[in-house]
Amino acid sequence: MKTELHREPDIILTGIRTSGLLHLGHYAGAIANWVALQDYHKQFVMLANVQALTDYFERPELVRESVFQVGVDLLAVGLDPQKTTIFIQSLIPEIAELTVYYLNLVTVSRLQRNPTVKAEIQQKKFDTSIPAGFFMYPVSQAADITIFKARYVPVGEDQLPMIEQTNEIVRAFNRIYRTDVLREVEAIVPRIAARLPGTDGKAKMSKSLGNAVYLSDSADVIVQKVMSMYTDPNHLRVSDPGKVEGNTVFTYLDAFDPEKETVLALKEQYQRGGLGDVALKKRLIEVIEAILGPVRARRQEYENNPDFVWKTLREGSEKARAVAIETIEQVRTVMHLIF
Ligand code: TRP
Repeated sequence: MKTELHREPDIILTGIRTSGLLHLGHYAGAIANWVALQDYHKQFVMLANVQALTDYFERPELVRESVFQVGVDLLAVGLDPQKTTIFIQSLIPEIAELTVYYLNLVTVSRLQRNPTVKAEIQQKKFDTSIPAGFFMYPVSQAADITIFKARYVPVGEDQLPMIEQTNEIVRAFNRIYRTDVLREVEAIVPRIAARLPGTDGKAKMSKSLGNAVYLSDSADVIVQKVMSMYTDPNHLRVSDPGKVEGNTVFTYLDAFDPEKETVLALKEQYQRGGLGDVALKKRLIEVIEAILGPVRARRQEYENNPDFVWKTLREGSEKARAVAIETIEQVRTVMHLIF
């Protein structure tokens, strides 16, 4: 006898700012989650090109190219468009409409206190000339999430203040308009992604720091990036004992090498002395290549077939838009905007 399940699958919404490419930091944390989640949940992955324009409004061609390249990355790592709805943010104008309504519910001082916005304002050296579009992007992010009535949002740790602000908006909206059309959301934070440093061993991987290994990097570029990776600056001769903590090569081996015992043996040898950085790095190159080689081959197929990629993104956007339209009609109804 079959058991009928009446529960709807949970809706998951992921957003990726399309101003770059996916890198190993994404691979360590987020990508495995996305690929696993698509089998059990109703997953939407949004290419956040409107949000990317808040940084790159002067480089719209760069944002468009990133939409394509990240689309290729996602297909190449195994997101199945039959299961995961991959879509382009700007093709859902209802998100922009919802953002305008939400702006009434948020104060300027609350936005100023948002730690993610604060950090980015400093990092980008906006000083006092902060573009308003950039300043209010947490509000548009709240619209991204809530228009799909997402239950979960996979994000990096740095994005947690966005989720908090989203839920404040949800509560304010539902209270003011005496409704329950919006739902609160929970963050899913992958553990490794928060920790995987860039090749310089410092901050997390980012385009601006030039310390990222991209899924689209060629085999040669991977060799070059790993060979220049930060290890232990005091490990000068092969025979010297070396440090494992804070050694980026070991951090990466911990994240990506499937043979945990081998990594353990390498660590012991390194700490004792007798294992050179070059030999160690060769191991990491093999490990990364084993992951990215097949991804690169699939990327190549999609890059050779741009019509298929764009068609997939357009179809995903149509599906996503149907959901957004349902929500915006409920929103307009409770806001007395039906004429
Ligand atoms: N702000 C996110 C980032 O920079 C991208 C993003 C946009 C997002 N909209 C979203 C993430 C909605 C989660 C949900 O990485």
